Amino acid sequence: MTNIPEPPAGEGDSAGDHSKTRFQFPRWANYLFPVLLLVAIGVMTYIPLLGTLAISPDTRAVGYQPQQPVPFSHALHAGKLQLDCRYCHSTVESSAYAAVPPTQTCLNCHAAIKSDSPKLALVKESFESGDPLRWIKVHDVPDFVYFNHAAHVNKGVACELCHGRIDQMDEVTQVQSLSMAWCLECHRAPEQSLRPREFVTYMGWDALTATGKSQSELGSELAQDYHVQPQHFMTSCSTCHR
Ligand code: HEC
Ligand code: HEC
Ligand code: HEC
Ligand code: HEC
Ligand code: HEC
Repeated sequence: MTNIPEPPAGEGDSAGDHSKTRFQFPRWANYLFPVLLLVAIGVMTYIPLLGTLAISPDTRAVGYQPQQPVPFSHALHAGKLQLDCRYCHSTVESSAYAAVPPTQTCLNCHAAIKSDSPKLALVKESFESGDPLRWIKVHDVPDFVYFNHAAHVNKGVACELCHGRIDQMDEVTQVQSLSMAWCLECHRAPEQSLRPREFVTYMGWDALTATGKSQSELGSELAQDYHVQPQHFMTSCSTCHR
């Protein structure tokens, strides 16, 4: 990427006095790399940012709530029917991406339940044709940001901290900014957010009520048990921009 000059051909190990004259970067060049990195990130981000902002000004904003092709309600399925998030978002613990379920998952129930409802017509059509339903993505971080669900969920960071009370939403709405400052706020003090892994999909969970310990006390214990990475990793640019 950078233009580090190659030594001229033939000037190898046998260089002898050549080595004294070999090109050395001046000291100030040490500062050049961070500057170049910033410029590089700037260029990488500016173009897609401009692109996305110009096309769809609503995405990635708090309150973003696109109209979905099928009126699927989390308040009904995750709230009233108490289905676990992982029944549908089955890869959330094992991969970076929290898969949206295939049509087959809906048919597990809707082959029998309300199978003739007009609200489920598109689901039926998708199943028969094999074309997936075209759900509209709600949460979206730019491509130059690396995000990983498994890394969070397996260390006890709960869905509700980032997605809010999904179990009360008829239509999914973005409730957090997903900005860099927001990510860093938690990364600087993760103990304020950790809970035992088995409760990551619970909604309205509270450390004191559930365990009798304060969030800081419980969180500090869990950070140790789960070997949560130290501060310098959590806030390093290359953790999220790789
Ligand atoms: C019966 C299946 C099902 C269950 C159970 C379920 N979901 Fe979903 N989820 C979906 C479908 C389908 C979509 C895509 C349509 C939409 O956004 O409403 C979705 C979308 C989402 C989105 C928005 C994704 C995006 O595009 O940004 C989030 C966040 C989410 N679910 C979280 C949860 C959480 C948290 C739970 C558990 C409390 C849960 N879901 C339970 C099926 C389910
Ligand atoms: C575990 C079973 C189960 C699964 C899986 C499931 N649903 Fe449902 N769904 C229900 C039940 C129960 C109702 C409520 C039926 C009623 O009102 O009598 C319902 C209601 C609905 C309704 C409203 C239907 C109407 O006419 O009022 C829609 C739309 C719907 N589901 C879509 C989906 C979609 C899309 C999926 C897959 C992402 C899905 N459901 C997965 C059990 C399920
Ligand atoms: C630390 C914050 C955080 C936690 C915890 C979290 N999510 Fe997400 N979720 C995000 C972000 C950020 C995105 C957008 C990712 C992207 O654009 O690449 C997202 C996107 C999604 C999507 C859309 C598909 C995808 O992966 O882009 C679904 C579905 C989802 N989350 C479900 C869940 C469920 C279910 C849980 C809990 C088991 C959960 N999330 C926990 C931050 C989080
Ligand atoms: C509520 C707390 C919280 C929020 C919000 C949060 N994180 Fe994290 N993040 C964590 C914890 C805890 C870890 C686990 C560190 C570890 O692996 O020990 C982590 C780890 C990571 C890792 C390292 C994953 C790996 O595979 O090594 C990345 C990348 C990351 N977060 C990106 C993000 C981004 C991007 C956002 C914002 C969109 C975000 N996080 C928001 C708590 C949070
Ligand atoms: C915990 C994850 C995380 C860490 C650590 C992180 N960033 Fe970011 N960064 C993000 C996210 C998320 C965005 C996208 C913000 C948005 O879409 O509004 C972003 C956006 C940016 C942008 C684009 C401009 C902007 O504000 O949208 C630049 C430049 C940037 N980061 C540089 C850095 C540098 C330099 C560091 C190290 C000092 C760093 N980032 C550390 C998550 C992180």
